[in-house]
Amino acid sequence: MNVVSLEGLKAHYINELYGAIKTTRAVDNVSLDIRPNEILGIAGESGCGKTTLLKILSSTIKPPLKIVQGKAAFHFDGKEIEFGDEAKLDEHRWRTIAYIPQGSMHVLNPVRKIRHTFHDFLEHHVDIDRKELDRRITDYLQQLGLSAKVLNSYPHELSGGMKQRVIIGLATYLRPKLILCDEPTTALDVMVQRNIVQLLRRIQKEQGNTIVLVSHDLALHANITDRIAIMYAGKLVEIASTKQIFDRPLHPYTRLLINSLPSLDGTNELTGLSGQPPVLSDPPPGCRLHPRCPYVETRCRTEEPPLRTFGDRTAACFRISDGGECEY
Ligand SMILES: Nc1ncnc2c1ncn2[C@@H]1O[C@H](COP(=O)(O)OP(=O)(O)O)[C@@H](O)[C@H]1O
Ligand SMILES: [Mg+2]
Repeated sequence: MNVVSLEGLKAHYINELYGAIKTTRAVDNVSLDIRPNEILGIAGESGCGKTTLLKILSSTIKPPLKIVQGKAAFHFDGKEIEFGDEAKLDEHRWRTIAYIPQGSMHVLNPVRKIRHTFHDFLEHHVDIDRKELDRRITDYLQQLGLSAKVLNSYPHELSGGMKQRVIIGLATYLRPKLILCDEPTTALDVMVQRNIVQLLRRIQKEQGNTIVLVSHDLALHANITDRIAIMYAGKLVEIASTKQIFDRPLHPYTRLLINSLPSLDGTNELTGLSGQPPVLSDPPPGCRLHPRCPYVETRCRTEEPPLRTFGDRTAACFRISDGGECEY
């Protein structure tokens, strides 16, 4: 059974500015199943709604964000929890669902040693004496490639990569079933990024959890994810296995994202994206990509392409034939 099922989900930021209501359609009609034991990537440029989608999955929805339509359900231990059942979801927070928000390494309390941050975090969850707890935390951090010294350090004494490992340690100590990570490697240098990705993959193998990884960086997804959902302007435009995405992208946006990746030897000509995703309080009609799409046709300007299924993958573009061939 899927770990999470989203059906036709719409979530808007509703802000009032000088008496006028401004609605930002950050997540617009998203349907997505998240499978057990997979690493699902969510990719797309900044401002496309990735963080908002993760906030919904983690059930940390606060005004001005509001779910205005659709259904979401979690399946844990054979039970279904409907979305919006905050009390039930609270019981599952951290033990079942761990959320590593964007920029979370900067939120480690600067005046608390890592040891105390762990104690603060775990005191509601584990019932063992401090000494034994310290021993277990030290053990766990060592498995994550951190020395015992880290426990007695303050956050400012640690490098970015070490802080991110600490955050991942906190989030995964209780072996949650679902781990939601938002841009976990952004702001880290490339070598450190790779190590963090390998660490996440290893944890997932050992603990058998499901990971949803949000990153604007498609190259990162190539190294870690099993499947990728491509998000553009609040909508999912393509969902396929990572191999399918890179071997044969169906959606023009996916293709543009791939083309804007530098090749390893630096020889490819970057023919990727110019311009920016639309403002989501006033998105273009029809296909939201049409003002930037090199393959645009007349109907793309007025009609919205539905997400269609092609075998075991889905994509939303008029220029894909029913047989799943790109007509461009
Ligand atoms: N608190 C907020 N109020 C209004 N709009 C917001 C708020 N937070 C994010 N947004 C808007 O929602 C859209 C999606 O943002 P976000 O989910 O952060 O995208 P991503 O993570 O892909 O960069 C953007 O247009 C952003 O400006
Ligand atoms: Mg984001």
